[in-house]
Amino acid sequence: MRRPLPTTLDPSGSAAREIADLWWLLVGLGAVAFIVVAVGLGVGLLRRPADDTVPRRRAAGRWLIGGGVVLPTVLIVVVLIATVASMRAVSGSPSDDAVTIEVTGHQWWWEVRYPDDGVVTANEVHIPAGRDVVLELRSADVIHSFWVPALAGKMDLLPERTNTLVIDADRPGRYDGVCAEFCGVQHVNMQLVVVAHDEAEFAGWLDAQRQPAAEPTEELETRGEQAFVDRGCASCHRIGGTDAAGDDGPDLTHVASRSALAAGALDNTLPDLREWILDPHAIKDGVLMPAVELEPDELDALVAYVGSLR
Ligand code: CUA
Repeated sequence: MRRPLPTTLDPSGSAAREIADLWWLLVGLGAVAFIVVAVGLGVGLLRRPADDTVPRRRAAGRWLIGGGVVLPTVLIVVVLIATVASMRAVSGSPSDDAVTIEVTGHQWWWEVRYPDDGVVTANEVHIPAGRDVVLELRSADVIHSFWVPALAGKMDLLPERTNTLVIDADRPGRYDGVCAEFCGVQHVNMQLVVVAHDEAEFAGWLDAQRQPAAEPTEELETRGEQAFVDRGCASCHRIGGTDAAGDDGPDLTHVASRSALAAGALDNTLPDLREWILDPHAIKDGVLMPAVELEPDELDALVAYVGSLR
């Protein structure tokens, strides 16, 4: 499942807008410099060779000083001032009502925690629109980079260090993102999405995510819950409200409510979930999740159970 990455030139957040404005300024100034140089070159090529007189040499000297020293100096100073101003703007301190979210990069998925609300999810960052969000970025292994082009610039996730990125979204919507630092063979399958909600919807989302997992309602799902423990899934994955308490892989308490599986490698549908459980390496070679030997009815039960965790 590949989605087209949104352009940085269609910003929906303060930091992204700052970056887009700076880009347009650079393009504009570059265009001015190019036109001046091109016109000067054209005039020089078309003019007949002139007599080598003192006034001619003076005129040529003025062109060299103006075009070779003054123009570049002015442009570079303007670019420097604009860049420093943009850097200050995008690294400004968050407002008092900001939400803090911890994002940890793993090969190859995103762990997303809401420390104030006891909520854990993966590969989706839900935020309130119109409010500052402080992302505390870390890595559990190698260097990753958080990049949601419509909202902000890139920020690396490093082992043993926390980087902070402040984002905000102008309005509710889905904003696609990627890992922007090569982090291993499945770097391309380390996608994420930021979902911005209005305040009421965000509170509702947090509340739903805070709940323990849905109890199985069908016999097949109950057998799936058992298989989840028996076949070792529970030693890596946590499912809130059950005995599954592993913390190596993504928290699956509400996995069926997410828009994608395997950090964007698959759609979140039952057939895709079955394919994933059956042989994760066929989808995402190198992934830590092993292919587990399962009886056909066990696979059916696992898919039904995990697919019911909304
Ligand atoms: Cu993580 Cu690239």
